[in-house]
Amino acid sequence: MDAVISSKPRHIAIIMDGNGRWARRRGLPRVAGHRRGVETVKNMVPICGKRGIPYLTLFAFSSENWNRPSAEVKLLIELLHTTLENEMRRLHEHKVRLRVIGELSRFPRKLQSKIDEAHELTRSNRALNLTIAINYGGQWDMTQACQSLAELVAAGEMTPDAITPALIESHLCTSELPPPDLFIRTGGEQRISNFLLWQLAYTELYFSDTYWPDFDEQCVDEALAHFAGRQRRFGKTGEQVRGESA
Ligand code: IPE
Ligand code: IPE
Ligand code: MG
Repeated sequence: MDAVISSKPRHIAIIMDGNGRWARRRGLPRVAGHRRGVETVKNMVPICGKRGIPYLTLFAFSSENWNRPSAEVKLLIELLHTTLENEMRRLHEHKVRLRVIGELSRFPRKLQSKIDEAHELTRSNRALNLTIAINYGGQWDMTQACQSLAELVAAGEMTPDAITPALIESHLCTSELPPPDLFIRTGGEQRISNFLLWQLAYTELYFSDTYWPDFDEQCVDEALAHFAGRQRRFGKTGEQVRGESA
């Protein structure tokens, strides 16, 4: 019974990596890879819909990606803006609730307003919770959670011993999402790159060599098949999880 329930992830979190190498391999500028990457993102919505996966979180721009050449950063921000502008209504029609997380204040005011607009428009949708992380870093997320808790302590609204893992979690910018069940990183690297550091505590990790622009429905199914084959123990023994006596 347990095995059936946990065979499908409720929440998938993806580091969409390999756009630049996809483009270079074809002799194209890196931005061509980012553009193709947007197509993969668009395809992911119906793919999750068909498989009944209610939460999808995508890492689109890390707090470290500002260190890239300024022309690439500028193009990525423009691409984020135009994609949001072009796709917002379609997402809404498909009952997708969009959340954009990260330290958004560093982005142009125009992009921030677009994000506010998308949040407002899709707020009551229930088909898919699509979360896009931009200027996001797991270390930043934990830091901002600590800061808001410290402010509550400093204001005398609570004492330090009231701080629990659940309370910290409720101050992370993913507080409305369940923890990811399945983490996927495309593009061949096997690292977390400051993504959801707290939230990935018990997530199953899956690394694919496929570059993000080539990550299609079949690749998703391969990841899902790996996930279905994992035994999630959460500290227990395998026998306990299978309901056998030790
Ligand atoms: C991921 O692809 C997209 C972003 C980080 C914005 P990359 O641009 O990192 O692609 P590679 O790793 O250079 O191939
Ligand atoms: C991680 O990819 C960030 C995103 C996909 C948005 P990077 O390509 O920036 O990661 P590193 O720097 O190679 O670890
Ligand atoms: Mg990369």
